[in-house]
Amino acid sequence: MQLAVVGSGYVGLVAGACFADLGHDVIVVDNDQKKLAALNRGEVPIHENFLPELLERHRGTRIRFSDDLQNAVRASKAIFVAVGTPPTHQGEADLSYVESVARGIAGAIDSYKVVVEKSTVPVYTSDWVRKIILRNGAEHGEFDVASNPEFLREGTAVTDFLYPDRIVIGADTGRCAAVLREIYAPLVEGSYYLRPDVIPRPDRAQIPPPLIATSAKSAELIKHASNAFLAMKISFINAVASICESVGANVQQVREGIGTDTRIGSRFLNPGIGYGGSCFPKDLMAFRSVARESGYDFRLLDEVMRINEDQRVRFIRKVRSALWTLRGKKLGVLGLAFKGGTDDIRESPSILLIKSLLQEGCQVCAYDPAAHERAKEELNASIDFAETPYEAARGADALLILTEWEEFAALDLRQLRSEMKYPIVIDGRNLYDPEIMAAAGYTYYSVGRPAASPEPLPSAKTPTVGKKTHS
Ligand code: UGA
Repeated sequence: MQLAVVGSGYVGLVAGACFADLGHDVIVVDNDQKKLAALNRGEVPIHENFLPELLERHRGTRIRFSDDLQNAVRASKAIFVAVGTPPTHQGEADLSYVESVARGIAGAIDSYKVVVEKSTVPVYTSDWVRKIILRNGAEHGEFDVASNPEFLREGTAVTDFLYPDRIVIGADTGRCAAVLREIYAPLVEGSYYLRPDVIPRPDRAQIPPPLIATSAKSAELIKHASNAFLAMKISFINAVASICESVGANVQQVREGIGTDTRIGSRFLNPGIGYGGSCFPKDLMAFRSVARESGYDFRLLDEVMRINEDQRVRFIRKVRSALWTLRGKKLGVLGLAFKGGTDDIRESPSILLIKSLLQEGCQVCAYDPAAHERAKEELNASIDFAETPYEAARGADALLILTEWEEFAALDLRQLRSEMKYPIVIDGRNLYDPEIMAAAGYTYYSVGRPAASPEPLPSAKTPTVGKKTHS
């Protein structure tokens, strides 16, 4: 099917590349000329596994890039809107880009079109998009508006798209639902998975994925409620981790004990320095506003956000209790991206923590496998950047692990120790076993687990750290 995808950000670009891999012809529309030129030259603007392969496979044949929305709409049966919905000052989603695309689509409708919301938008957006298209000259019956939320995670976006847990199509007419079913048929009927060049199947993938057909409003709510629930799981385990620290329990053990209950599940139950990224923080605020406007005071979400912020404050306190004073301390930092596998630093807990530590007078030397360029723009020249984790640790008073990149869990501990001024590691992502770290000569602090050290630790000022687990 001929499709248009408007917006070439994470969601739009990945969706466009994956639709092409399913056999559709895709025009990705963007008004950023620099980005279009780069995409046409074969550059890939984001760090995302398998995306370069898919773009290489389909560029110029099944996928094209253009700034001409009108032509793309005329050529396509379905138009996916994947433009940004950034937060306003009040925390609501700013839908002005969606509105402007809707106006652009209206002027080009010359036969039946399905306009599909792919960005995360508040409930009622589909109604508004319909109204805007009608106001701008299109006729009833010439188009339908659907919601087809995307659940991909950055870093694993391509496999999440092609091997989803479910596909949600929110359509209010049978005609519209039929178009969306046809688009996803290669996944839902399983033919895509039989191809020899299929993108490799990740663990746990359910093949074929179920398709859930709902109303447009329900689909809009499914997206916000899913992200809010996942963020709530993370804040829940972070709150439990704080109690573990106070009573000397181990959150990894507690997590295993909770997560093996299949009703709860262990995924998204990893404690750390709080969630970040372009989705959870923004979507929680937006969902809070949606609830308020509908007359429901969703205070649970306030608490989820409060716990998340508190988690960073607790981490700084931990650094302080490991090092005593902070002014002039040299810190190695591993990880700048908001999570492993991506170069995205939006709302990254690591960047927020680095800014606080700089304010405290620390010096920072950081390493990240993918996010240096973006971090340089954000932090200017306020920190040094290292080429390897070992270089980041060189001469450091302590090393902080702030992003869960796989390579950070497999460091040569002997080499690392030889680089550091003091062998102190403060791990915000629980990548190491405290006993192994203590045996390797480190004083090791993590989240929700007793601190470990080869020597008895001096009694700490707060009850969060200072329990000796290994000698
Ligand atoms: C999230 C959702 O997981 C996707 O399903 C959704 O499609 C996407 O938002 C979106 O709305 O576009 P993403 O923001 O890419 O995806 O990243 P996640 O893997 O969800 O991680 C978010 C944050 O939570 C990261 O900072 C991560 O480090 C943190 N996290 C995640 C934890 O602290 N603990 C966990 O157990 C899991």
